[in-house]
Amino acid sequence: MENDSIIAEISRLKKERNAIILSHYYTRREVQEVADFVGDSFSLCRKAVDSEADVIVFAGVHFMAESASILCPDKLVLLPVPDAGCPMADMVDAPSLRAEKAKHPEAAVVCYVNSSAAVKAESDICCTSSNAVNVVNSLENREILFVPDKNLGAYVALHTDKKVWLWEGFCHVHHNIGASEVEELQKAHPGAKFLAHPECRSEVLDLADHICSTSGIIREVESSGAGEFIIGTERELYKKLKAEFPEKQFYHASRSAVCYNMKKLTLEAILNSLEHMEYEVSVPEHIRVKAKRALDRMLEVP
Ligand code: 13P
Ligand code: SF4
Repeated sequence: MENDSIIAEISRLKKERNAIILSHYYTRREVQEVADFVGDSFSLCRKAVDSEADVIVFAGVHFMAESASILCPDKLVLLPVPDAGCPMADMVDAPSLRAEKAKHPEAAVVCYVNSSAAVKAESDICCTSSNAVNVVNSLENREILFVPDKNLGAYVALHTDKKVWLWEGFCHVHHNIGASEVEELQKAHPGAKFLAHPECRSEVLDLADHICSTSGIIREVESSGAGEFIIGTERELYKKLKAEFPEKQFYHASRSAVCYNMKKLTLEAILNSLEHMEYEVSVPEHIRVKAKRALDRMLEVP
C-alpha cells in the first residue's frame, strides 16, 4: 500500500476506534506525522492520563506503553511492535533491585521511567530526564538509590546534596557519544551551542552548554538567539530540528546515536495495530497498583 493510503486508513480507524496515537521524538518522521501528540517521556505520561480516547496506540518502546497502561487502566494500550524494547530498561529487574535495596535501607528508590512495571513497583518514585533533579530534591531521605541509568544518576548527584547510589545501567545510544567527537565539532564550529541529553556520559555533559530532555532541547533551540547547535541525542531529533529550523545549522554529536528499537515502529505497524487491536500491553493488577503509586508521586512533583 502507498503511504497516502496507509495514512488515510490510519485516520479512518482512529475515529472508528476512538483511538489516539502518542509518539516519542525518536520514531521515524512519517510515524510522528500521523501521531496526535509527539513528546518526551514526561509529557507522554501526562497526555495518556489526560486523554479521553478509549485506545492509545503507543509509537514508542515497551516501557512507554507500559507506563500508559499503568496510569490508565480503563484504556486499551497497544504497542504496534511487541519487541520494541529499551535495552537500558532491561538492565535492572525486581529481584536484583530488592537485593540492592537491602544494602541501602535508608535510601529512597528513584527509578527512571525507562524501567519495567515490576521495577517501578519496587520504587518509591519515578522520574524522567526532564524532572529527575526536582524529583530527587523533593524527597526527605538523605540517601537515594537511583536506577537504572548511571549517567542520569551521576548528573542528578551533581545537583543535590544527597548521597546518590548508582546502578550500572546506561543507554547505549547516548553512552556511545564520545567526548572527542564533540570536541572536534566544537573546534570546527566554535559558535555552536552544545545541547546534550543527560543520558550522555559525564565527560560529554561537561562539554555541554545546556543539558535537557528531548523537549528541553527543542525549547532551547526555539528560544536561543544562537544559529548553530551540536545535538547530543538520538538522530531523529537532530533531523527534526534540521527540518523545522531551516535557518539554523545543526551538527549531530555522533553518527552512531540511533535507537534501532524506536525505528521498528513503521506506518504499516501502526495500521496493523489499529486494524487488529494489537498488541495489548497490560500489567498484573498487584504490580500495576504499586507501580502507579511511583508514577503518580512523580506527576505530583512541581
Ligand atoms: P526524554 O524524551 O524523556 O528526554 O527521554 C529520552 C529517551 O531516551 C527515551 O527513551
Ligand atoms: Fe532506551 Fe536509549 Fe532507545 Fe531511549 S534511546 S529507548 S533509553 S535505548
